[in-house]
Amino acid sequence: MTVNHLMLFLHVCGVTLWVGGMAFAWACLRPAAAGLAPAARLELWRGVLARFFPLVWVSIALIALSGGYRLFEVGFASAPRAWHAMLFTGNLMMAVFLSIWFGPWQRLRAAVDAEDWATAALALGRIRQRVGFNLALGVLTIAVSTLGLGI
Ligand code: HEM
Repeated sequence: MTVNHLMLFLHVCGVTLWVGGMAFAWACLRPAAAGLAPAARLELWRGVLARFFPLVWVSIALIALSGGYRLFEVGFASAPRAWHAMLFTGNLMMAVFLSIWFGPWQRLRAAVDAEDWATAALALGRIRQRVGFNLALGVLTIAVSTLGLGI
């Protein structure tokens, strides 16, 4: 095993955690379908996201450090175009996550704590929209980083 293999392993672990977690949150977590009352649903979402979002920070650190290491090692000029595209869409994903973290996520936490369910529902809607968008970007980034190598 070389350092490059280790970096690729850490990179893919970060990607799996982040994109897989978003897929679960966006497509599978459906407390309404389980018959939970609106307040209980929002409390559930708050609890789940409070566990998931710190893991996203870990994923971002793994992805950026390992990807950045490989990119600098190979050099921007010699890197395949697919890598440049991945840097772009990957940075966009990170910006979207920052917009969630500092925007609707803070509002959801405060509103659930204050039992302001209308504001909490609005904030959750925004989070779900942006997570859905980031999930699509994540799939696109995976396509770019794999299929894009053949272009
Ligand atoms: C913005 C920061 C990112 C940088 C600088 C970056 C850079 C890189 C580099 C240089 C490689 C090649 C590693 C090697 O072959 O040794 C790589 C592979 C890969 N990256 Fe990224 N990446 C970033 C973000 C992402 C994101 C956000 C995703 C997915 C959502 C992703 C998915 C992948 C995948 C699946 C591979 C493996 C491709 C393969 O080996 O064919 N990357 N990345």
